[in-house]
Amino acid sequence: MNTVENNEASTRNNSANDTFIDCETFRNVMRKLAGSVTVVTTEGDGTFHGFTATAVCSVCAEPPTILIVVNRSARTHPYIHQKGVFAVNILADNQAHIANLFASKSSEQFANVSYAVTPRGVPVIEDAAAFIECNIDQQHEVGTHTIFIGRVLGGGAAENLPLIYHDANYARVAMI
Ligand SMILES: Cc1cc2nc3c(=O)[nH]c(=O)nc-3n(C[C@H](O)[C@H](O)[C@H](O)COP(=O)(O)O)c2cc1C
Repeated sequence: MNTVENNEASTRNNSANDTFIDCETFRNVMRKLAGSVTVVTTEGDGTFHGFTATAVCSVCAEPPTILIVVNRSARTHPYIHQKGVFAVNILADNQAHIANLFASKSSEQFANVSYAVTPRGVPVIEDAAAFIECNIDQQHEVGTHTIFIGRVLGGGAAENLPLIYHDANYARVAMI
């Protein structure tokens, strides 16, 4: 695992004269960025951990690489770092209750969901639209969050459609 502590070479310095977007406008803009709802899962200290995430992105296919963006205050954050392996479960459009469960502070999340466990010991949620298992290739701290860049070890997709998050609501895909 390659932890980048100092990435000055690729970071532009902001000038004192720069002005930035206010938080509310930023949030209003980002609400228009619809995305699939996922649950990021891992294992640590003998138990399973996970949280709901939409900040998941394909980076490149050669080599197969994705990124996830994780708040450092999330309970799962230290376990992702510690295990070096995580799964992204892309929820199906009948799994909004699972999105709510993994966005909650419940300590019983895995008692209330069906899952299988990969050979690497990571839980994968049953009947999801797809899953991806990764090991951490790089990580970068940005503000309050860590970007984990994951090399894809395996995955699979089912026929069911993904659950979408848009404008602070869950939604379904509508074909045009
Ligand atoms: C639709 C949705 C998307 C979310 N996306 C992210 C995300 O990409 N990264 C993140 O760190 N938290 C995200 N969150 C917030 C976490 O799911 C939530 O804060 C969770 O409770 C954190 O885990 P913890 O309670 O175990 O600390 C999202 C929440 C929702 C409802």
